[in-house]
Amino acid sequence: MIRFTELIKDRLKKYELYNKKEYWDKRTLQRKGLARSMWSSNNYNSCLDALEKKIIYNYPAPLDGLIVLDLGCGIGRISTYLASCGAHVTGLDISPATIKAAEREILPNVKGKIQYISGDLFTKELQKESFDIVLGIAMLTIIFSNKERFEKGIERICQLTKPGGKILLIEPIHSIWFLKRICGFKLQRWILEFEKNGAMLSNRTGLAFYPFRIFLAFLNLPLVITKPLFLIGEFILKLPFMDWFSDYKVLLFRKKNN
Ligand SMILES: C[S@@+](CC[C@H](N)C(=O)[O-])C[C@H]1O[C@@H](n2cnc3c(N)ncnc32)[C@H](O)[C@@H]1O
Repeated sequence: MIRFTELIKDRLKKYELYNKKEYWDKRTLQRKGLARSMWSSNNYNSCLDALEKKIIYNYPAPLDGLIVLDLGCGIGRISTYLASCGAHVTGLDISPATIKAAEREILPNVKGKIQYISGDLFTKELQKESFDIVLGIAMLTIIFSNKERFEKGIERICQLTKPGGKILLIEPIHSIWFLKRICGFKLQRWILEFEKNGAMLSNRTGLAFYPFRIFLAFLNLPLVITKPLFLIGEFILKLPFMDWFSDYKVLLFRKKNN
């Protein structure tokens, strides 16, 4: 419950907070486990984490030997997974405390396969067209605070991707005020902006049924309650016309060959 009031306070100041590394540093230092980079409920996080990994495995697979950029990598939950599937991963995050935590917790089986870098997506020097896959999970919708950042950010992502490479987004894309994070552009606008930069949509789905997500993510209910409700929600999303109720949109783009 404390977490819920904290979240309301944060949400009211979201335009000032979410872009700042200090906010994410503090979160990492104050929270535990996956909640450092995800929702307050670690039981909900474990369900969402497992499903996202399944999606990542199925979409741009096979990952073995690919060079991947994990944007806003947080504590490295996805970077670690990608590396364990054989990818060579660069995890980029603006928060030095979060990057330190990710480095500290690096698993022995993926040592040498992940490089964590502290830096800002907009300014960090990275070689153009050097990544087979660029991944953005729950970070672009909080950092695209205006039209200029939205357009520049998407241009940067496309520039970093190799020709023929893939861009996978798992982002809460909404234009309705109570669901949108910072960026309020409609899904169609995102797709058009990627197309403008030479990346075409090749697959699309949704996840995290938001009528359940809204409370499961904050109330730390036991896993025996959280998991079945989570799974029922994901089942509902697969029914015809129910995609509208997905919190996260999963978008896979393919950058054109030169
Ligand atoms: C909600 S967390 C998501 C973390 C991770 N993608 C995950 O799903 O577990 C958002 C992350 O984006 C990072 N971030 C915020 N602004 C950023 C920026 N301009 N450049 C790079 N990372 C940024 C934050 O530090 C934070 O770790």
